[in-house]
Amino acid sequence: MLDRSNAPFYRWFVGAETNININALDRWINTDVANKVAYYWEGEPGDTRTLSYRELYWEVNRLAWAFRELTGLKPGDTATLYLPMIPELPISMLALTRLGVIHSVVFSGFSPQALADRIVDAKAKVLITVDGFYRRGRVIRLKEEADKAIRLARDRGVTVEKVIVVRRAGVDVPWHEGLDVWYHDLIGEAPVKAYVRPVPRKATDVLFILYTSGTTGKPKGVMHSVGGYMTYVYNVFKWNWDPRPGDVFWCAADIGWITGHTYIVYGPLMHGMTQVMYEGAPDYPKPDRIWALVEKYDVTTFYTSPTLLRLLRKYGDEWVEKHDLSSLRLLGTVGEPINPEVWKWYYKKIGGGKAPIVDTWWQTETGAAMISPAPGISLVPLKPGSATYPLPGIVADVLRYDGSPASPGEKGLLVIREPWPGMLMGIWRDPDRYVKTYWSMFSRPDKGVWIYYPADFAVRDADGYFWLLGRADEVMNVAGHRLGTIELEDALLTHPAVSEAAVVGAPHPVKGQVPLALVVLREGYEPSPELEEELKETVRSMIGPIAVPARVLFVRKLPKTRSGKIMRRIILALVEGRPVGDLSTLEDPAAVEEVKRAVEEFRSLMREG
Ligand code: PRX
Repeated sequence: MLDRSNAPFYRWFVGAETNININALDRWINTDVANKVAYYWEGEPGDTRTLSYRELYWEVNRLAWAFRELTGLKPGDTATLYLPMIPELPISMLALTRLGVIHSVVFSGFSPQALADRIVDAKAKVLITVDGFYRRGRVIRLKEEADKAIRLARDRGVTVEKVIVVRRAGVDVPWHEGLDVWYHDLIGEAPVKAYVRPVPRKATDVLFILYTSGTTGKPKGVMHSVGGYMTYVYNVFKWNWDPRPGDVFWCAADIGWITGHTYIVYGPLMHGMTQVMYEGAPDYPKPDRIWALVEKYDVTTFYTSPTLLRLLRKYGDEWVEKHDLSSLRLLGTVGEPINPEVWKWYYKKIGGGKAPIVDTWWQTETGAAMISPAPGISLVPLKPGSATYPLPGIVADVLRYDGSPASPGEKGLLVIREPWPGMLMGIWRDPDRYVKTYWSMFSRPDKGVWIYYPADFAVRDADGYFWLLGRADEVMNVAGHRLGTIELEDALLTHPAVSEAAVVGAPHPVKGQVPLALVVLREGYEPSPELEEELKETVRSMIGPIAVPARVLFVRKLPKTRSGKIMRRIILALVEGRPVGDLSTLEDPAAVEEVKRAVEEFRSLMREG
């Protein structure tokens, strides 16, 4: 069943065939679940759409039919989705996986440049996007961004053959005859009850790819498997959320990230759950939008990020108290460590002291939660800020840098000692990077020992509880979004004024971390507020608004080792006001003073929040 012969390229359920549609949709169609609501969707302006499992099933079938007949998509092809939180996103994902087409969903907040990188790497044949969508009362015209990305990809030799455009905002869009096609026209070609048999796929085929940031500039396409991902997600969903027939589940994430893939699309549908899906900003038009939705739809199970909780808590309890939240019976968090005081607020104020908090530690690469409470099996006593224990089958440990086990209470590095079904299959078109990134830190291939390295700090306390303490590599966690510091540095270096750049994740009271950039200018350029804005704009256009640095500080020197490596550890210590530690490898001590001076003002701003 598990093939270990080519470790660390483990292969799960070898010899089996399936299609995830069978478990997410087809299994329900002749049961009572067919009439159940799959999605209560709500747009930011307040418009709504309700889709039953039966309606979802037929829409997916019709779209799959149209994809197959009219776009020529075949099993093993790739399609990129650049869509906001509208029902057509899960519908498209399911229609593609029904045909055995690999989807690559790109978060709608990424820039055309970032989208182009992902289209080129995946060699996408089809792009699915939208005319526009609502965010804070404004229409974001996504089709225009998508067009820019298509041109950039074409310049790099990858030609998208069809662009499918969902009409959401009803705005005028630039149109390219022969290339662009409206989603409603495409699906309109399909017979009303077009049925497409789910294409049988090998358990070891790729189900989807999802790009995530790492320690080098280029985002990596994490590949998930047909059989392993499906099996793991099904089980973990059950363990995390203890699904019951009357539940209304709401995972307030974006499908552009793994949390949405697993906990808005595949996991809940495989359990026949009724869900809430919301298009817009969580605090629009007022800070109680989330709580109003919980009340309106009688949400029983609510899953979100510590960043969102910190934001909503800051607005004040009066926004919570306006709403009846008594339907809630389970609460979850994901994406970052949760501060114990925020945990307690969530528990008391939102859950009324009766809903356990399921703090789930996991990653894009792990497919679903790995370390978390499991009310669906048996609930252990909770400790605010701890994700408790590894889930069944997950062999987690905390090691020192030398590979020896850390003692109870000692901060070390989290590792996973055994493969698990939801694990990534590899990195799209880059097998070496897969081995290097995840399996080279502690493995001993000569002894046949392979250890997965997630690059997270952790402590295990005397009771064996795991406390996750943030990234141990050059990756930031900004508002629960994963961003590579080097990705930002590369973006800054594309600007002609920048000679050197260093980016660190500075602590932030709401977002957890924010990117802080330090740059050395080239000869002939002078620091100015205008230049700082220009550099921020460069990051916005290369990556997207989520990556824009809180500040770009100008320095004459960066702390570097004698071999020329930027010592981000020193910059971070100065930003956090900690002792800088060992300076013996530093090339020029004057650089420390320089950075100290530059970050002083930033630190006082951060203290004020
Ligand atoms: O540092 C850990 C943090 O988020 C990273 C994974 O980011 P990403 O692949 O974008 O997936 C986020 C959603 C699964 C991890 O390496 N992280 C995730 N969950 C937690 C967490 N840190 C602390 N506690 C968590 N519950």
